[in-house]
This record gives sequence, C-alpha cells and structure tokens, in this order.
Amino acid sequence: MPLYKVISHDIDTQVFIWKITELESELKETVVLKEKHQARLDGMLSEQHRKGFLSVRKLLQAAGYEDEDLTYDANGKPHLSDGKHISITHSYEFSAIIISTKNVGIDLEMKREKMIKIAHKFIETEFDFLDTNHQYIEQLSVIWGAKEALYKMCNSRSLSFKQDMHIQPFSLIDDTGKALVDCKELDFASQFTFHFESFENYTLVYALEHE
Ligand SMILES: CC(C)(COP(=O)(O)OP(=O)(O)OC[C@H]1O[C@@H](n2cnc3c(N)ncnc32)[C@H](O)[C@@H]1OP(=O)(O)O)[C@@H](O)C(=O)NCCC(=O)NCCS
Repeated sequence: MPLYKVISHDIDTQVFIWKITELESELKETVVLKEKHQARLDGMLSEQHRKGFLSVRKLLQAAGYEDEDLTYDANGKPHLSDGKHISITHSYEFSAIIISTKNVGIDLEMKREKMIKIAHKFIETEFDFLDTNHQYIEQLSVIWGAKEALYKMCNSRSLSFKQDMHIQPFSLIDDTGKALVDCKELDFASQFTFHFESFENYTLVYALEHE
C-alpha cells in the first residue's frame, strides 16, 4: 500500500504515513538516492531497515521533495534544503515524516509486551500516575513515543529520558498531552505539547516547538 494517511495538523504542518507492503525492489525502482544516502542504504544489513529508509523517500515525494533535498547534521538530525523542519521515524511495517515551518519531532512505536519489561529505562516520574491495570502498554507507548519525539526535536545527546523529560498526566481518550523538558546540564527548561494517535498496532506521537 502506498501512502497510508496524511494528517494536516495545521496550515504549516503535515504528517505523512507510509505502510510498507512493497518489495524492496519495488521501492528501489521509484527512488533516486544521492551518493551518500546510497552508500548508507548499501551498508544496512537488515531488509526491514532498507525498506524503512526507502519508504521515507516515498514520503518525501508525497510531500513534494526528493532525497536530494535531505541532509543530516552531525547528530543525525535530518534537515530540508528549503529551511522547513522535518522529522523522520520508521518502525517495522510503517514509516512517517512530519514537515513544518516549526521545529518538530515524530516517533512511531509498535505496542508490545516488551515495553513493560523496559519501562524502568525510560520512565521515572510518570510511574506516579501510570495505571498498570488499564491499557498499560498503550500508556507506555505514548510516553516512550513522546520522549523520542522531544529528543529528536531538541537534538541534544545530553537529554536523559528519565531525568530530563517528564510527561504530565494524560488520558488515552484525548489525543494530546504536555511534557516538561528540564535539563540542568544544558540550563534548559521548557514545556511542550505532544499529539498522539493509534492505528493498527502502532502509536504515533509528534511534537511541535512553541505550540
Ligand atoms: C536517534 C534516535 C532518536 C532514533 O529513534 P528510534 O526510535 O531508534 O528510530 P526512529 O526510526 O524513530 O528514528 C530514526 C530517525 O531519527 C532521525 N534522527 C536520528 N538522530 C537524530 C537526532 N539526533 N535528532 C533528530 N532526529 C534524529 C533520523 O532521521 C532517523 O532516520 P534516518 O536516519 O533513516 O533518516 C534514538 O535511537 C535515540 O538515540 N534515542 C535516545 C536514546 C535514549 O536515551 N533512549 C532511551 C530509551 S530506553
């Protein structure tokens, strides 16, 4: 299936989601990569990673861009040549990008049991409000996704998921929540809004700066 869904968040911000059902060869046929990105693709050992990477180029096309328009900074954060902001995510059979005039971050998480086991690695203050008896994996997916999205937006390797990022109590019935990023080391503190939605077995979370 090609383009799975487009979310028009506001006039300047769109999310594009791809469901990867194509063969790798089918994706390759319609994508032109610059040399640097071709070398990266050639170095990927997993077919799933290669398909994720190629499907992101299909999403770029859907948004009116080419691989040529995309560059990465030293941290691995992607940038567009026209100055618009972009964030990228891929997870198993889905990939997604968000493009905006504002700084943005996006993440896709597959809802799975494993999240319960590793929750202590990315959650601290949130344990105070988490309801472990009711849609626990769904709640964990939103928190993890929100922290990954904020991490990508803030683009600092110094940010700790546990110590510096605090998701405020939220309800799964809503599609939005608030998070505090408070990093003493960077002397940075700010509150952010994030947005989430579920489809199939995945949770998509994205955040915009100054929202
Ligand atoms: C880099 C990182 C954000 C990628 O997230 P992920 O969930 O593993 O993978 P995703 O598919 O969602 O995102 C990958 C994309 O993020 C983007 N990305 C990578 N580094 C980035 C950065 N520093 N800032 C913004 N975006 C970044 C890239 O576009 C990449 O895809 P591409 O290289 O194919 O274009 C993540 O691996 C990471 O380092 N997280 C923080 C580490 C941490 O503390 N984790 C604790 C969890 S227990």
